[in-house]
Amino acid sequence: MAFPPQFLDELRNRLPISEVAGRTVRLTRRGAEHAGLCPFHAEKSPSFTINDDKGFYHCFGCGAHGDVLSFVMRNEGLAFPDAVERLAAEAGLDIPQTTPEDSARSARQKDLLDLLEEACLWYQDQLSGAGGRLARDYLRQRGLDQQTIARFRLGYAPDQRGALRRALSGLGATPQQIAELGIVKTGPDGGNPRDYFFSRVIFPITDRRDRVIAFGGRTLGDGQPKYLNSPDTPLFHKGKVLYGLAQARESARRAGEVIVTEGYMDVIALARAGFHNAVAPLGTALTADQLQALWRLAPEPLLCFDGDAAGHRAAHRAAERALPLLQPGQSLRFITLPAGEDPDSLVAASGPQAFAAAIAAAQPLVDLIWRHESAAKALNTPERRADLERRLDARVAAITDRSVQFQYQAEFRDRLRRQAAGFRFKPGHFKAPSRTLGPRIDVANLPAQQDHWLMALIINHPGLIEPQWESLSQLNLSSRRLDRLLREILNLAAARPDLDSRDIHRHLMGHGFEAQLKKVASPTLYREAAFAAPDAPAAEAGDALAAILRAYGKRRLTADRAAAERELADNMTKEGYDRLLAIVDEQADGGADQGA
Ligand code: UTP
Ligand code: MN
Repeated sequence: MAFPPQFLDELRNRLPISEVAGRTVRLTRRGAEHAGLCPFHAEKSPSFTINDDKGFYHCFGCGAHGDVLSFVMRNEGLAFPDAVERLAAEAGLDIPQTTPEDSARSARQKDLLDLLEEACLWYQDQLSGAGGRLARDYLRQRGLDQQTIARFRLGYAPDQRGALRRALSGLGATPQQIAELGIVKTGPDGGNPRDYFFSRVIFPITDRRDRVIAFGGRTLGDGQPKYLNSPDTPLFHKGKVLYGLAQARESARRAGEVIVTEGYMDVIALARAGFHNAVAPLGTALTADQLQALWRLAPEPLLCFDGDAAGHRAAHRAAERALPLLQPGQSLRFITLPAGEDPDSLVAASGPQAFAAAIAAAQPLVDLIWRHESAAKALNTPERRADLERRLDARVAAITDRSVQFQYQAEFRDRLRRQAAGFRFKPGHFKAPSRTLGPRIDVANLPAQQDHWLMALIINHPGLIEPQWESLSQLNLSSRRLDRLLREILNLAAARPDLDSRDIHRHLMGHGFEAQLKKVASPTLYREAAFAAPDAPAAEAGDALAAILRAYGKRRLTADRAAAERELADNMTKEGYDRLLAIVDEQADGGADQGA
């Protein structure tokens, strides 16, 4: 919608920036200006300045600059028309209609919105009513509580075709309006229109201002199609909407992070697990519109994909879509879940911390592209590397921002160079990092010291990681922090086969691991464990790592054996007995499985 310029000026005049910004930023007066801590970047001394007379703000720290409208857009993550609407309401101004057609259309839309709200309430009533028991059971069985159901306004479409249509007619809706809502479809014989949704759990889809504009419905069982969305209507364009956006906005902006999942239930299950900043497209690949909406919330949205082939394809499609839209500071990160898992099933099976770990291991876009292009075949000949270079160049060509494009080019060149150098010494390939998210073996109660030695060994001698990948990726260290550190290093190593010790240091420093890094890569530690020092001979370091892993393996077998014996005592089965024998055999072999 176009707004008349005089109206926008009126808005700017009525609302001084200091008044609007003053609600979220603590301002102090400085002559004709106000100053405070910039809401758009982290700072300790105020460089954010407002000049009400001139009608703009400026930050001397990060360069943010604009008028009251751009302040609200940026501070609240709103699109321009929404910022105008929000400020107009605050200033008590009506938004003028440019033409009679415009005003007729917006009146019509308001009626439709009111009816959709009624429909939503009706579905909610059906869920809580006597006929909604099966649907309530279904939602409970999927782990949802009352609060979550209310937050997402879930409902139920009963198996009575025409019931919603009759209810809305009763409220005065015309057949024409009902058709426009996208909640009925014409019967096969052209007879009375029937309800579009029946016998389904209903997920209201709202716009960014939380007004209901469409619905999604899921069968309670295995019926097909599993999900049905409203068809596109004058109010609903699938490719422009993100499910859960209105509910997620606050927390996404506060966290500076937004999570993008594939489905309704993922958004809801994540909220239930404490991640309130998740949204989902509606069963389609992300569009440019949706990406822009995400970037209004956070600089690097986290996209979540299943670790199977379809997930990789979807991640790659999203990357392609994003390349032309990248800006300095504006990118994507990718969360790869274990194959066959979605966020909903992951938190159900392994709890919120499993998802938090997946977030911590998220990959930047540049790594995703590198991996995608370089994974196809070994890079052990010049021709193959040249082929890779050509494909990477094609990706880089899609980036339109010049400085981002330049940085990508430089980064890929650098990686190719190191890749080539690396292959002169050690051909071979790393395994996919998603392995580190697989089931792992608990090694409880080991001396903490050994964990530290192990960490220093792989930080100072990253060449040891690949040959011990299998054993390292199965470790589950007793200290949470060290375990996170280990995973971070393994993920990094998987993404960058040519990793050196400096890279690891740099990465860990930049990702909040400074304290742990200091603790493990320290002269104090090297005094008692010279084999782990940066200047230790590689062979010595390798032997030490193998020995530590063997020790872990032994302890694990001891624990496994105790568990197997207990189980056998409770329940004497052939399988249980075989399992115990296998462990005893392995112990006799001296835990040889932990070697290289
Ligand atoms: P999924 O098939 O991954 O389902 O579809 P899900 O999200 O895991 O759902 P649950 O856990 O079985 O309930 C992901 C998304 O694709 C769209 C929906 O938007 C869904 O949330 N979809 C899926 C459809 O539109 N139609 C379908 O038949 C299936
Ligand atoms: Mn699911």
